[in-house]
Amino acid sequence: MARNSAASVVVVGSMNVDLIASVKRLPGPGETVAAAGLEKRFGGKGANQALAASRHGAQVTLIGCLGDDPDGRDYRNHLRREGINCSSVNTVKSGTGSAFIAVDTKGENQIIVIPGANALLTAPALKMQRSRIEVAKALLVQLEVPLETVVEAIKLANGREVPVVLNPSPIHPDFPWGKVTINVLIVNGGEAKEIFGADPADIGEQLDAWKARLVEKGVRTLVVTRGEKSTLVLTEAGLKKVATHKVKPLDTVGAGDTFAGAFTTHLAEGAPLLECVRWANAAGALATLKVGAQEGIPHRGDVQSALA
Ligand code: RIB
Repeated sequence: MARNSAASVVVVGSMNVDLIASVKRLPGPGETVAAAGLEKRFGGKGANQALAASRHGAQVTLIGCLGDDPDGRDYRNHLRREGINCSSVNTVKSGTGSAFIAVDTKGENQIIVIPGANALLTAPALKMQRSRIEVAKALLVQLEVPLETVVEAIKLANGREVPVVLNPSPIHPDFPWGKVTINVLIVNGGEAKEIFGADPADIGEQLDAWKARLVEKGVRTLVVTRGEKSTLVLTEAGLKKVATHKVKPLDTVGAGDTFAGAFTTHLAEGAPLLECVRWANAAGALATLKVGAQEGIPHRGDVQSALA
Protein backbone atom coordinates (compact mmCIF):
# COMPACT_ATOMS: atom_id res chain seq x y z
CA MET A 1 0.00 0.00 0.00
CA ALA A 2 1.37 3.45 -0.92
CA ARG A 3 1.56 5.68 2.13
CA ASN A 4 2.66 9.19 2.98
CA SER A 5 6.35 8.62 3.75
CA ALA A 6 6.92 12.04 5.29
CA ALA A 7 4.38 12.00 8.08
CA SER A 8 5.30 14.49 10.79
CA VAL A 9 6.27 12.97 14.12
CA VAL A 10 7.15 15.03 17.21
CA VAL A 11 9.41 13.38 19.77
CA VAL A 12 9.77 14.92 23.22
CA GLY A 13 12.73 13.40 25.01
CA SER A 14 16.31 12.98 26.06
CA MET A 15 19.70 13.15 24.38
CA ASN A 16 22.67 11.49 26.07
CA VAL A 17 26.29 10.82 25.30
CA ASP A 18 26.67 7.08 25.92
CA LEU A 19 29.91 5.70 27.37
CA ILE A 20 29.81 2.03 26.49
CA ALA A 21 32.02 -0.54 28.22
CA SER A 22 32.21 -4.03 26.69
CA VAL A 23 32.44 -6.64 29.44
CA LYS A 24 32.46 -10.45 29.49
CA ARG A 25 29.64 -10.41 32.03
CA LEU A 26 27.72 -7.69 33.83
CA PRO A 27 28.93 -6.94 37.39
CA GLY A 28 26.81 -7.96 40.38
CA PRO A 29 26.27 -5.62 43.38
CA GLY A 30 29.63 -4.58 44.87
CA GLU A 31 31.57 -6.36 42.15
CA THR A 32 34.31 -4.97 39.89
CA VAL A 33 34.79 -6.31 36.37
CA ALA A 34 37.29 -5.29 33.70
CA ALA A 35 36.08 -4.00 30.32
CA ALA A 36 37.66 -4.89 26.99
CA GLY A 37 37.12 -1.34 25.72
CA LEU A 38 35.27 1.94 26.09
CA GLU A 39 33.39 3.77 23.34
CA LYS A 40 31.64 7.14 23.24
CA ARG A 41 28.46 7.24 21.13
CA PHE A 42 25.30 9.31 20.73
CA GLY A 43 22.28 7.98 22.64
CA GLY A 44 19.38 8.88 24.93
CA LYS A 45 15.93 7.39 24.47
CA GLY A 46 14.39 10.51 22.93
CA ALA A 47 17.07 10.97 20.28
CA ASN A 48 17.32 7.23 19.57
CA GLN A 49 13.58 7.10 18.91
CA ALA A 50 13.69 10.31 16.85
CA LEU A 51 16.49 8.86 14.73
CA ALA A 52 14.63 5.60 14.20
CA ALA A 53 11.55 7.54 13.05
CA SER A 54 13.65 9.75 10.77
CA ARG A 55 15.45 6.77 9.20
CA HIS A 56 12.01 5.30 8.51
CA GLY A 57 11.08 8.38 6.52
CA ALA A 58 9.17 10.48 9.05
CA GLN A 59 9.63 14.23 9.18
CA VAL A 60 10.84 14.42 12.77
CA THR A 61 10.93 17.34 15.18
CA LEU A 62 12.77 16.66 18.42
CA ILE A 63 11.97 18.74 21.50
CA GLY A 64 14.62 18.53 24.21
CA CYS A 65 17.67 20.10 25.83
CA LEU A 66 21.42 19.86 25.20
CA GLY A 67 24.17 21.27 27.40
CA ASP A 68 26.28 24.31 26.49
CA ASP A 69 29.37 22.13 26.03
CA PRO A 70 31.26 20.47 23.16
CA ASP A 71 29.11 17.31 23.48
CA GLY A 72 25.99 19.42 23.07
CA ARG A 73 27.34 21.10 19.94
CA ASP A 74 28.46 17.77 18.44
CA TYR A 75 25.08 16.27 19.21
CA ARG A 76 23.18 19.08 17.49
CA ASN A 77 25.31 18.68 14.35
CA HIS A 78 24.75 14.94 14.41
CA LEU A 79 20.96 15.37 14.61
CA ARG A 80 21.03 17.85 11.73
CA ARG A 81 23.04 15.41 9.62
CA GLU A 82 20.33 12.83 10.32
CA GLY A 83 17.70 15.22 8.96
CA ILE A 84 16.02 15.82 12.31
CA ASN A 85 14.52 19.25 12.91
CA CYS A 86 16.32 20.56 16.02
CA SER A 87 14.94 24.08 16.08
CA SER A 88 13.09 23.02 19.26
CA VAL A 89 16.22 21.62 20.92
CA ASN A 90 17.32 24.22 23.48
CA THR A 91 20.88 24.75 24.66
CA VAL A 92 20.81 25.17 28.45
CA LYS A 93 23.33 26.00 31.18
CA SER A 94 24.28 22.46 32.13
CA GLY A 95 26.31 19.52 30.90
CA THR A 96 24.78 17.38 28.14
CA GLY A 97 23.08 14.27 29.53
CA SER A 98 25.16 11.10 29.64
CA ALA A 99 24.82 7.38 30.28
CA PHE A 100 27.21 4.69 31.51
CA ILE A 101 26.43 1.46 29.72
CA ALA A 102 27.91 -2.00 30.23
CA VAL A 103 27.24 -4.57 27.49
CA ASP A 104 28.12 -8.25 27.96
CA THR A 105 29.02 -10.87 25.37
CA LYS A 106 25.36 -12.00 25.11
CA GLY A 107 24.29 -8.47 24.21
CA GLU A 108 22.60 -7.83 27.58
CA ASN A 109 23.17 -4.46 29.22
CA GLN A 110 23.05 -2.30 32.33
CA ILE A 111 22.54 1.46 32.05
CA ILE A 112 23.03 4.35 34.47
CA VAL A 113 21.75 7.71 33.23
CA ILE A 114 22.98 11.14 34.37
CA PRO A 115 20.18 13.49 33.18
CA GLY A 116 22.20 16.73 32.92
CA ALA A 117 20.50 19.09 30.44
CA ASN A 118 17.57 16.68 29.97
CA ALA A 119 16.37 17.58 33.46
CA LEU A 120 15.96 21.22 32.35
CA LEU A 121 13.25 20.60 29.76
CA THR A 122 10.48 22.37 31.66
CA ALA A 123 6.73 22.27 31.07
CA PRO A 124 6.61 26.05 30.26
CA ALA A 125 9.39 25.58 27.67
CA LEU A 126 7.46 22.66 26.20
CA LYS A 127 4.26 24.72 26.00
CA MET A 128 6.08 27.14 23.70
CA GLN A 129 6.26 24.28 21.18
CA ARG A 130 2.51 23.70 21.36
CA SER A 131 1.87 24.46 17.67
CA ARG A 132 4.38 21.79 16.59
CA ILE A 133 2.67 19.11 18.67
CA GLU A 134 -0.82 20.13 17.64
CA VAL A 135 -0.18 19.68 13.91
CA ALA A 136 1.81 16.43 14.19
CA LYS A 137 0.53 13.09 12.93
CA ALA A 138 1.84 11.47 16.11
CA LEU A 139 3.56 12.37 19.38
CA LEU A 140 6.19 9.98 20.74
CA VAL A 141 7.34 10.27 24.37
CA GLN A 142 9.43 8.40 26.95
CA LEU A 143 10.20 9.23 30.60
CA GLU A 144 13.85 10.37 30.57
CA VAL A 145 12.83 14.05 30.80
CA PRO A 146 10.80 15.60 33.66
CA LEU A 147 7.43 13.91 34.15
CA GLU A 148 5.40 17.15 34.21
CA THR A 149 6.86 18.07 30.80
CA VAL A 150 5.88 14.74 29.27
CA VAL A 151 2.39 15.00 30.76
CA GLU A 152 2.02 18.52 29.36
CA ALA A 153 2.99 17.26 25.90
CA ILE A 154 0.47 14.42 26.14
CA LYS A 155 -2.30 16.85 27.20
CA LEU A 156 -1.56 19.13 24.24
CA ALA A 157 -1.72 16.15 21.88
CA ASN A 158 -4.89 14.82 23.52
CA GLY A 159 -6.51 18.25 23.06
CA ARG A 160 -6.12 17.98 19.28
CA GLU A 161 -6.56 14.20 19.02
CA VAL A 162 -2.96 13.74 17.92
CA PRO A 163 -2.17 10.04 18.60
CA VAL A 164 0.17 9.61 21.59
CA VAL A 165 2.69 6.77 21.71
CA LEU A 166 4.25 6.36 25.16
CA ASN A 167 7.27 4.20 25.91
CA PRO A 168 7.28 4.72 29.72
CA SER A 169 10.96 4.03 30.24
CA PRO A 170 12.37 4.46 32.83
CA ILE A 171 9.14 3.79 34.76
CA HIS A 172 8.04 6.76 36.90
CA PRO A 173 5.99 5.93 40.00
CA ASP A 174 3.94 9.15 39.74
CA PHE A 175 2.77 8.88 36.13
CA PRO A 176 -0.91 10.01 36.16
CA TRP A 177 -2.38 6.84 34.62
CA GLY A 178 -6.03 7.31 33.70
CA LYS A 179 -5.86 11.12 33.69
CA VAL A 180 -4.49 11.37 30.13
CA THR A 181 -5.14 9.28 27.02
CA ILE A 182 -2.38 7.07 25.69
CA ASN A 183 -3.23 5.78 22.23
CA VAL A 184 -0.44 3.21 22.21
CA LEU A 185 1.62 2.11 25.22
CA ILE A 186 4.81 0.26 24.28
CA VAL A 187 6.37 -1.70 27.15
CA ASN A 188 8.48 -4.78 27.81
CA GLY A 189 7.22 -7.57 30.07
CA GLY A 190 8.77 -6.15 33.26
CA GLU A 191 7.35 -2.69 32.64
CA ALA A 192 3.89 -4.15 31.93
CA LYS A 193 3.97 -5.98 35.28
CA GLU A 194 4.99 -2.83 37.12
CA ILE A 195 2.32 -0.64 35.53
CA PHE A 196 -0.60 -3.06 35.54
CA GLY A 197 0.33 -5.20 38.57
CA ALA A 198 -0.21 -8.36 36.51
CA ASP A 199 1.90 -10.62 34.32
CA PRO A 200 1.31 -9.98 30.60
CA ALA A 201 2.01 -13.68 29.97
CA ASP A 202 -1.57 -14.21 31.23
CA ILE A 203 -3.30 -11.75 28.90
CA GLY A 204 -4.74 -14.55 26.75
CA GLU A 205 -6.38 -16.27 29.74
CA GLN A 206 -7.58 -13.07 31.41
CA LEU A 207 -8.68 -10.98 28.48
CA ASP A 208 -11.53 -9.14 30.19
CA ALA A 209 -9.44 -8.29 33.23
CA TRP A 210 -6.68 -6.90 30.99
CA LYS A 211 -9.13 -4.90 28.90
CA ALA A 212 -10.47 -3.37 32.13
CA ARG A 213 -6.90 -2.54 33.21
CA LEU A 214 -6.31 -0.70 29.94
CA VAL A 215 -9.48 1.37 30.39
CA GLU A 216 -8.50 2.19 33.97
CA LYS A 217 -5.05 3.39 32.86
CA GLY A 218 -6.34 5.42 29.90
CA VAL A 219 -4.55 3.16 27.41
CA ARG A 220 -6.26 2.35 24.10
CA THR A 221 -3.69 -0.13 22.73
CA LEU A 222 -1.07 -2.08 24.66
CA VAL A 223 2.02 -3.40 22.86
CA VAL A 224 4.28 -5.72 24.87
CA THR A 225 7.69 -6.54 23.39
CA ARG A 226 9.22 -9.79 24.65
CA GLY A 227 12.67 -10.07 23.11
CA GLU A 228 12.68 -12.91 20.60
CA LYS A 229 9.15 -14.06 21.56
CA SER A 230 6.15 -12.71 19.59
CA THR A 231 4.97 -9.19 20.43
CA LEU A 232 1.60 -8.96 22.19
CA VAL A 233 -0.94 -6.42 20.94
CA LEU A 234 -4.03 -5.87 23.06
CA THR A 235 -6.92 -3.64 22.03
CA GLU A 236 -10.63 -3.50 22.81
CA ALA A 237 -11.04 -5.95 19.90
CA GLY A 238 -8.84 -8.59 21.55
CA LEU A 239 -5.30 -9.99 21.68
CA LYS A 240 -3.03 -10.55 18.68
CA LYS A 241 0.52 -11.91 18.56
CA VAL A 242 3.00 -10.66 15.96
CA ALA A 243 6.02 -12.86 15.22
CA THR A 244 9.46 -11.32 15.73
CA HIS A 245 12.35 -11.25 13.30
CA LYS A 246 15.04 -13.79 14.30
CA VAL A 247 18.61 -12.49 14.64
CA LYS A 248 21.69 -13.20 16.77
CA PRO A 249 21.93 -9.99 18.88
CA LEU A 250 25.27 -8.30 19.45
CA ASP A 251 24.02 -5.33 21.50
CA THR A 252 20.40 -4.80 22.53
CA VAL A 253 20.89 -1.16 23.67
CA GLY A 254 18.49 1.00 21.67
CA ALA A 255 16.47 -1.93 20.25
CA GLY A 256 13.36 -0.86 22.18
CA ASP A 257 13.86 2.73 21.02
CA THR A 258 14.14 1.59 17.43
CA PHE A 259 10.91 -0.38 17.82
CA ALA A 260 9.13 2.71 19.18
CA GLY A 261 10.43 5.06 16.45
CA ALA A 262 9.65 2.69 13.59
CA PHE A 263 6.23 1.85 15.02
CA THR A 264 5.28 5.52 15.40
CA THR A 265 6.34 6.38 11.86
CA HIS A 266 4.06 3.75 10.38
CA LEU A 267 1.24 4.74 12.74
CA ALA A 268 1.64 8.39 11.69
CA GLU A 269 1.39 7.28 8.06
CA GLY A 270 -1.93 5.61 8.80
CA ALA A 271 -0.77 1.99 8.54
CA PRO A 272 -2.91 -0.72 10.19
CA LEU A 273 -1.82 -1.49 13.76
CA LEU A 274 -0.44 -4.98 13.14
CA GLU A 275 1.56 -3.77 10.15
CA CYS A 276 3.15 -1.09 12.37
CA VAL A 277 4.15 -3.85 14.81
CA ARG A 278 5.51 -6.10 12.05
CA TRP A 279 7.81 -3.30 10.81
CA ALA A 280 8.80 -2.34 14.34
CA ASN A 281 9.65 -5.96 15.25
CA ALA A 282 12.00 -6.21 12.26
CA ALA A 283 13.54 -2.77 12.86
CA GLY A 284 14.16 -3.53 16.55
CA ALA A 285 15.81 -6.86 15.69
CA LEU A 286 18.11 -5.32 13.05
CA ALA A 287 19.14 -2.63 15.56
CA THR A 288 20.80 -5.29 17.74
CA LEU A 289 23.33 -6.23 15.06
CA LYS A 290 25.74 -3.34 15.79
CA VAL A 291 27.28 -1.95 18.99
CA GLY A 292 25.82 1.40 20.08
CA ALA A 293 22.27 2.64 20.55
CA GLN A 294 22.10 4.48 17.22
CA GLU A 295 24.69 2.71 15.02
CA GLY A 296 22.42 -0.24 14.32
CA ILE A 297 19.17 1.69 13.74
CA PRO A 298 18.13 0.54 10.27
CA HIS A 299 16.79 2.68 7.43
CA ARG A 300 13.36 1.92 6.04
CA GLY A 301 14.83 0.15 3.00
CA ASP A 302 16.84 -2.22 5.23
CA VAL A 303 13.70 -3.21 7.10
CA GLN A 304 11.76 -3.61 3.89
CA SER A 305 14.44 -5.99 2.57
CA ALA A 306 14.46 -7.94 5.84
CA LEU A 307 10.69 -8.30 5.73
CA ALA A 308 10.75 -9.37 2.10
O1 RIB B 1 17.46 3.02 25.51
C1 RIB B 1 18.84 3.13 25.40
C2 RIB B 1 19.30 4.46 25.92
O2 RIB B 1 19.04 4.52 27.31
C3 RIB B 1 20.76 4.74 25.80
O3 RIB B 1 21.11 5.35 24.58
C4 RIB B 1 21.06 5.59 27.01
O4 RIB B 1 21.46 6.90 26.72
C5 RIB B 1 19.78 5.56 27.84
O5 RIB B 1 19.04 6.69 27.66
